[in-house]
Amino acid sequence: MSHDITVLGLESSCDDTAAAVVRGREILSSVVADQTALHAAYGGVVPEIAARAHAEKLDLCVERALAEAGMSFSKIDAIAVTAGPGLIGGVLSGVMMAKGLSAATGKPLIGVNHLAGHALTPRLTDGLDYPYLILLVSGGHCQFLRVEGPTTFSRLGSTIDDAPGEAFDKTARLLGLPQPGGPSVEQHARSGDELRFVFPRPLLDRPGCDLSFSGLKTALLRQRDQLIADQGGLHTQDVDDLCAGFQAAIRDVLIEKSKRALNASEGLSGFAVAGGVAANTELRAALETLSAKHGIPFVAPPLALCTDNAAMIAYAGAEKFTVEGADDLTLTARPRWPLDRAAPAALGSGKKGAKA
Ligand code: KG4
Ligand code: ZN
Repeated sequence: MSHDITVLGLESSCDDTAAAVVRGREILSSVVADQTALHAAYGGVVPEIAARAHAEKLDLCVERALAEAGMSFSKIDAIAVTAGPGLIGGVLSGVMMAKGLSAATGKPLIGVNHLAGHALTPRLTDGLDYPYLILLVSGGHCQFLRVEGPTTFSRLGSTIDDAPGEAFDKTARLLGLPQPGGPSVEQHARSGDELRFVFPRPLLDRPGCDLSFSGLKTALLRQRDQLIADQGGLHTQDVDDLCAGFQAAIRDVLIEKSKRALNASEGLSGFAVAGGVAANTELRAALETLSAKHGIPFVAPPLALCTDNAAMIAYAGAEKFTVEGADDLTLTARPRWPLDRAAPAALGSGKKGAKA
């Protein structure tokens, strides 16, 4: 197959600097340098700090990815790089690095949409056929995409404010739990009663697949403050019950909207999920049950390929190359780059950069 070319991928759109070498569906190396420690003191990703760290780490990641794959540049067929959407400084660091490498080695340059990287991952990991439905659910994204080809996507719905991962992180902060919030909230939710507190199910009363999560943290803040006013503080059971109620609201909204997205799509080969929130056991199980009810396979790639990485960029680059060929050195960084050109721009811009 023509996409069995060997591609070096670069990713630097948010807070992970990554490089990988992929041949066909084989990941020869995948290096990720995360910046969690650099941003820990600020409660979110600081774009300037992120951009500088990417510029410092990209060449080291490339060297390591090539070494781990046992390759030199002579064996690489093309260089793929995330050209957006994301934090402009980071995307620019990656694009400039890739252009430099392409100019120096003469290898073709491929600009990849970060979301296409996530959206094509089920093909890399499980060989899923087109068309399929994917739910991207992370700290920066939340959208339903019908994936029809390497560069053909239709967006069925997306968040109009926060991404679910952001909501988990804010909830953890409000309850004094460690970051990242998702795993901490999930752990407390295990011993909690999801019915003790009432949480809204935003946008379920409106048709369609758009989602909203910002109201949940307001609801949580109100319940927390009421408990503190009534009893002078929070007991462990209160924290567990708040986490369980919050997590159940996210799960219910995502499941109901997934149901609608599945009903609106015909001829799907499967339903896939990607993004850090896909690590949530309860959500994963509910999505799996829903897929089974619809009689289609459920694909949840391993977590290291659900979260930001460069293997997905290399793979998506290879697929794009086969249908559209290479970009030239006029390739630019696009902080906003919607996958579905026909869909209206989504509102909101999370802590991890612009949503497309
Ligand atoms: O995809 P990701 O690694 O980074 C980007 O957003 O780009 O996702 C990180 C997000 C964080 O907000 C984190 O709290 C959330 O995924 N997360 C979880 C879980 N593990 C990570 N959310 C819910 N449950 C989890 N087990
Ligand atoms: Zn991402």
